[in-house]
Amino acid sequence: MKATFHGHACFVVERDEKRVIIDPFLTGNPAADIGPDQLPRLDAILLSHGHGDHLGDAVALSKRHHAVVVATYELAKFCADHGATTHGMHIGGAHQFPFGRVKLVPAFHGGQVEGDKTGSYTTNPCGVVVTIGGKTVYHTGDTGLTLEMQLLAGKIDLMLVPIGDNYTMGVEDAARAVEFVKPKSVIPMHYNTWDLISADPQEFRRLVGNRAAVTILSPGESYTLS
Ligand code: NI
Ligand code: MN
Repeated sequence: MKATFHGHACFVVERDEKRVIIDPFLTGNPAADIGPDQLPRLDAILLSHGHGDHLGDAVALSKRHHAVVVATYELAKFCADHGATTHGMHIGGAHQFPFGRVKLVPAFHGGQVEGDKTGSYTTNPCGVVVTIGGKTVYHTGDTGLTLEMQLLAGKIDLMLVPIGDNYTMGVEDAARAVEFVKPKSVIPMHYNTWDLISADPQEFRRLVGNRAAVTILSPGESYTLS
């Protein structure tokens, strides 16, 4: 299974021609290495929450690739009402899709949906646990440190964790999150996109120590989980 970082909190996860993108913020993302038109064929678009730096190009990508947007019910409804193909779920629920299994898990963060003038789509943010080809990836979404993460202990091969502070965990809490989840591998995200969320990934690696293998990716780089 291969995970490719496209800047900020955007990753493509793929194995054996099954391919999903998580939090596809490419248009307007100062850290993105590609535009939304340069992605390979997608099976699905998985969303952690509705903030603009995560919802991003989701609706346009759904239309272009005939790919399903998987998100919490209200965020999926927003995308459907804007023309996307969607599958609504909610926190605690899992579903088996043709490409793999998705489970939504708790995240502590804001729930507003970018572009929603009415507020009627406001929803809970979440983390996304996706299993493709027998490997399980946990994208925490934007979140503070929470004890709920301990429920995933030992179940995760690759954890994608924010370290940029201010809106999410910083390096210290992110290292504790790794302690809670005990993944085999971890990749830091959601930092250095803007000055306000500047962080040192080497400091994060130092704090994690030997608890997990930390891989620091630049936008456009991939990590392969064997
Ligand atoms: Ni956010
Ligand atoms: Mn964010």
